Amino acid sequence: MALLADHLKRIKPSATIAVTDKARALRQAGRNVIGLGAGEPDFDTPGNIKLAAIQAIETGKAAKYTAVDGIPELKDAVSRKFKRDNELDYKPSQIIIGTGGKQVLYNALMVTLNPGDEVVIPAPYWVSYPDMVMLAGGEPVAVPTRLEDGFKMKPEALDRAITPRTKWVILNSPSNPTGAGYTRAELKALTDVLMKHPHVYLMTDDMYEHLVYDDFEFTTPAQVEPNLYERTLTVNGTSKAYCMTGWRIGYAAGMEPLIKAMAMIQSQSTSNPAAVSQWAAVEALNGPQEFIASHNKIFKERRDLCVSMLNQSTGLTCPKPEGAFYVYPSCAGAMGKTTPGGRTITNDEEFVTELLEAEGVAVVQGTPFGFGPAFRISYATKTEELEEACQRIQRFCASLK
Ligand SMILES: Cc1ncc(COP(=O)(O)O)c(C=O)c1O
Repeated sequence: MALLADHLKRIKPSATIAVTDKARALRQAGRNVIGLGAGEPDFDTPGNIKLAAIQAIETGKAAKYTAVDGIPELKDAVSRKFKRDNELDYKPSQIIIGTGGKQVLYNALMVTLNPGDEVVIPAPYWVSYPDMVMLAGGEPVAVPTRLEDGFKMKPEALDRAITPRTKWVILNSPSNPTGAGYTRAELKALTDVLMKHPHVYLMTDDMYEHLVYDDFEFTTPAQVEPNLYERTLTVNGTSKAYCMTGWRIGYAAGMEPLIKAMAMIQSQSTSNPAAVSQWAAVEALNGPQEFIASHNKIFKERRDLCVSMLNQSTGLTCPKPEGAFYVYPSCAGAMGKTTPGGRTITNDEEFVTELLEAEGVAVVQGTPFGFGPAFRISYATKTEELEEACQRIQRFCASLK
């Protein structure tokens, strides 16, 4: 009998991790490699948050199990955050704290999908959505978007994708991997479609809420269309804006029976998220928020640098995104061209492999995100390194004939 279960055959290893491994191997072999693959801020966790964690340890608050779905103090901080930032009212019984946004999303899909249930996901998408849906027995339904539309899903496309089997629509704004953020009007056009389909639930992944630039105003679907409140699970977390990817705290708010079911499978799998991290997250949400604006000033400069330098590269087209710390250039103009070593590039995986080998720049190919030929750059890295990396990309593109 085979050791591994059949359902594993539908799942792929993360492409983001594969490129990081390849870059590490080249580095070990002595090459100078600039990694633009990682999806996390290069900044350290702010001092006040670290201090709150140290105090939790020293006062014994970190030593024991907590309530499976989170300490009351953190649920209270989450509830106040939703009111303050999103004009949404959630009681503690409508809130769950999980081990990162990832666990929260995974649990929500696990407790709601029956075999064959469909989940609509605009593409390009975060690599984990389709695989999580498949692990939970559902069917991902990708809705292609266009670079010309800034990778934003049109309401007509959403309407066409919905069938009687649709259980969820997942929205992620600003997006990983494109950085695309929906304006209030664009979101309203999408929520209008959902109002026509009362059997469909909405999962909104607001992980990059605070990382927005220029005068972009973040809004979340249940705020834009209050009639969707009863059908929306709003997911967020402290990983990205608070530079806490390693602490593993995410949260969600929504319908009480759903939150209760999510807590039940959490109780039978991981139990509570780490107590020390929960106390750190209380400080993150309740404490000073000013550092976010200072980080965003730097992220915006880096975004502008990347967009400008990539658009000056032969064969690349890069839209200017509203948020997150990613840009997503198309490399369609490089397809069919040949490297100085005589290899012809026919897809984005070959493009990123040749780029890594020729110039030591690690980026992630677009195909696993559901849109190619393209690639994702994470600009959450030192500005000087980023500039050097973009120069290398320009040189690589110019070398293709
Ligand atoms: C869109 C999106 N959602 C969720 C997550 C998961 O975040 P966490 O690290 O809190 O699990 C990520 C992390 O990369 C992400 O990009």
